[in-house]
Amino acid sequence: MDNPQLHVMQQADASRTDGSRAEAPRADAHSGGNGHNPPPAPSPTPGALPSAPPSVSAAVERARNFGNSLLRPPQPMPRLPLAAAGERRYAQIVGWGMQVPDKVITNQDLEQIVDTTDDWIRDRTGIEERHVAADPRETSATLGAAAARKALEVADVHPSRVNVIMCATSSPEHTFPSTGSIIQDLIGADNAGAFDLSAACSGFVYALSLARGMILAGDAEYILVVGTETLSRIVDWTDRGTCVLFGDGAGAVLVAASDVPGGVLAVELGSDGSGGNTLILPAGGSAMPASLETVSGGNHYIKMDGKAVFRFATKVMAEATQKVVARAGLTLDDVDLVVPHQANRRIIENSVLRQLKIPAEKCFINVQKYGNTSTASIPIALCEAIEEGKVKPGDKLVFVGFGAGLTWAACALEWSVPVGKRPEDNWWQQTRRQATYQAAAYRSMWKKAVRRVYDMLPTDPEASPAPPPSREPGK
Ligand code: UT7
Repeated sequence: MDNPQLHVMQQADASRTDGSRAEAPRADAHSGGNGHNPPPAPSPTPGALPSAPPSVSAAVERARNFGNSLLRPPQPMPRLPLAAAGERRYAQIVGWGMQVPDKVITNQDLEQIVDTTDDWIRDRTGIEERHVAADPRETSATLGAAAARKALEVADVHPSRVNVIMCATSSPEHTFPSTGSIIQDLIGADNAGAFDLSAACSGFVYALSLARGMILAGDAEYILVVGTETLSRIVDWTDRGTCVLFGDGAGAVLVAASDVPGGVLAVELGSDGSGGNTLILPAGGSAMPASLETVSGGNHYIKMDGKAVFRFATKVMAEATQKVVARAGLTLDDVDLVVPHQANRRIIENSVLRQLKIPAEKCFINVQKYGNTSTASIPIALCEAIEEGKVKPGDKLVFVGFGAGLTWAACALEWSVPVGKRPEDNWWQQTRRQATYQAAAYRSMWKKAVRRVYDMLPTDPEASPAPPPSREPGK
């Protein structure tokens, strides 16, 4: 095959075309029609009151439908029916992107804030600097949306073709609405479902395994998996035990349905809730609602028993990697690159390098540049590994993470798409892309404006219409 990436796209497109054809008879079946003739009009009930003149009621109906259509979500694109028996589908990563804030905080900067040293941080964690969202307009959603757009651009897929957005985050914009929904609006993915996934730093791999499941089941063609964080907003900048560790950023991959063998081969997920207190954001949930006391006690910040998490992490990273590799029918020798969660260089060295005896050149580490970006760390590391030429078609990869919960997750993949630099977009492609994003922004503003107008209306336009006034006989 000349260009597997192209083939993956064509396969997804072909599936969608087939899907639209397959949907039509089902619609007929629901309406009870034969596909050509409208169903017969219901016969009037004997004794019913005469209704308003047809011209008036039709006009009212039309006006109501118009108003409702502005607020109604767009019709979803036709979906592919379940794959026929014996037909295999594969979940391939076809696009990737990352975004980090511009502001960099070095270990020397932290020396000015808390009682720490550059030497201690480098020695105990491997971290040298981290990116921090200094601009309040920069949030988990805006970073995630920027990474998602880049992933779509790499794959050259329009946002309207995305079926689902899975946003893994430990620092969501709100408890609800989901950061995934905000990203959906920001990128104009009008045909996508969206949600957040909470499994802390393991979240990205959890979401990827879910994306694989949906694609293999035939429920989706394109899924955006985003890991995004602004942990700097929930870190206690007076606690040297945590503030030196975390950073902000986002990474995203576009997963596509394909008949090209490979992609996400196997997954391994785990949880041990008994360790929940070792890494926790205590307040702000239903167990400890936000109050003056929780804020004054600093319970809205990350609390961590670093040593306990360290012990847990070194054990599960090695175990989960071994299990997922075996489940994929591979051996550790077959693995070309491990992309581990970037929390601490020592954790990666103790587990991946020492316990599993995987050579250092087969393990990607960039914790020194970004610190621990939780759900974003693996997709950011993947983007940089690709950028550095460490991933090529045919390679066997392992993503492995751990985090609060306690949770852990690993997946084994066979990389299938070319990773060379895409040719620069020409002016028309760039203009079209900008226009797409601009249109998404205007569409969002328009919908918000329509909602405001509805709020000002004296009556609820969604309410069922008042019955027509009864007419006295003879008048
Ligand atoms: O995504 C999952 C997120 N969490 C993690 O991955 C965290 C896992 N744990 C770790 O990475 C490590 O446990 C830490 C980096 C957090 C801490 O390293 P450690 O080697 O376990 O240090 P420690 O907690 O045993 O502390 C050793 C000493 C202590 O001083 P004393 O009691 O020996 O006098 C700490 O108070 O280092 C001190 N210390 C620091 N010193 C300078 C703790 N933090 C700092 C600091 N700067 N930032």
